[in-house]
Amino acid sequence: MPPPDHSISGIERVWNGGRVVPVLTIADPSAAIPVARALGRGGIRVLEITLRTPAAADALRAITDSVPEAIVGAGTVVDPRQAARAAEAGARFIVSPGFSADVAGACADASLPYLPGVATATEIMAALALGFDRLKLFPAAQVGGIAAVRALSAPFPEVRFCPTGGVDGRSSLEYLALPQVFAVGGSWMVPPDAVAAGDWQRIEALARSATGGPETAFA
Ligand code: 3PG
Repeated sequence: MPPPDHSISGIERVWNGGRVVPVLTIADPSAAIPVARALGRGGIRVLEITLRTPAAADALRAITDSVPEAIVGAGTVVDPRQAARAAEAGARFIVSPGFSADVAGACADASLPYLPGVATATEIMAALALGFDRLKLFPAAQVGGIAAVRALSAPFPEVRFCPTGGVDGRSSLEYLALPQVFAVGGSWMVPPDAVAAGDWQRIEALARSATGGPETAFA
C-alpha cells in the first residue's frame, strides 16, 4: 500500500498548480454548482468548502458530482470526525484553521492531503514535527500580512505558506509574489451579495482578476 498522501507536497500535487483557493461558505445549496462553474470560467479549479453551514456536505458532493473538473476540499475542519465525513462526501483535501494532530491522523487514514493552519512559531514547530511544511497562515492579514510571512519564514526557511484571512484582490497578488508563498486563500472573489443575486458574471470576473489572466479552467 502506498504511504498516505497527507504531506504538503501532497496538497500541492492535488491542487495541481492552483494558487488561488476560494474559501466558500455556502448557505444555499442551489448556489454551489453555479458558483463553482463561474469560478472555473474565471480560471479557478481548486475550491475549499467550509464546514460552517448545514449545506456544506451537500454542496461539496454536488460540485464533485456535477463539476468534475473542480478540485473540491473541505475547510474549517476542526475535529477528526469532520475529516472522515468530508472524505465520505468526496473531499479531495482537508484544511483547518489551526493545527490538529488528530485531524492530521484522520486525513492520513483517509489518504487525503491536509493543509493545517498556523499563526505562531510554536504552531509551525508542531506542524513541522509531524512532517507538514506547507501551512495555511491564518488569519493572515490580522497576524501581520506580508511582514508576518517574512518574519515567520526567517527561522523556518523550508516552510511555504498559504496566507488566508483578510486577503483581497490586491493583497493576494502581493502575497503570491513572495517566494515563501505557494498559494493564497480567501472569500473575496465570492461576495455574498453576488451569490444572493445570482451574479455569476461578477464572480467569474473576480476569479479572473485573482488569477491574473484570461485563462479558463473549464467552461
Ligand atoms: C477561512 O476560513 O479561511 C477564512 O474565513 C477566510 O477568510 P476571509 O473570509 O477573510 O477571506
